[in-house]
Amino acid sequence: MTVLDTVPVEGSADIAGPGWTAVCRLIDLAPERGAAALLDGTQVALVRLLDDRVLAVQQHDPFCDAHVLSRGIVGSRLVDGSDVPTIASPMYKQVFDLVTGRCLDRAGKDPVPGLDPDLRTWPVRVVDGTVLVGTDLLGTGGAP
Ligand code: FES
Repeated sequence: MTVLDTVPVEGSADIAGPGWTAVCRLIDLAPERGAAALLDGTQVALVRLLDDRVLAVQQHDPFCDAHVLSRGIVGSRLVDGSDVPTIASPMYKQVFDLVTGRCLDRAGKDPVPGLDPDLRTWPVRVVDGTVLVGTDLLGTGGAP
C-alpha cells in the first residue's frame, strides 16, 4: 500500500495556518482515485473528485478492520434527492458517503464489534494548489 507521508510543501507554512496540515499538491492526486496520507500517525484516505474538491475520511474500514479505504471505488449515489460522492470498500463493498462519512449500504454485513459503521471525516481545503487537512482533532478520537 502507498501512504503519502506529509512532506513540507513549498510555501505551505504561510498558507497552512494553525490546525491545518499540508499533505500534498492537488496535482499529486488522480481524480476519482483515493490516496492514503499518514497524519500524525493516523491514516486518512483522500479523494479528489472530478470537480477538484478533495474529501477526507478514515482509511480504516470498520467492516474488515483493515486500512484499505483509499483503494475503494469512487462513485456517487442519490441520497435524499441529492447526488453525493461515495467510496465503496475494496473488501466487502460497503458504500460510504464521502462528505459525511455515513455508511449508506452495509452490503449485508455488520461492522467489526465495537466499531462505528460510519467513517470519521476531516475538513480539507485546497489553497494555491496545496491540499490542507484540518488536523485539530487528530488523536482526540472525536468526530470533527
Ligand atoms: S495493506 Fe494497505 S491496502 Fe492492503
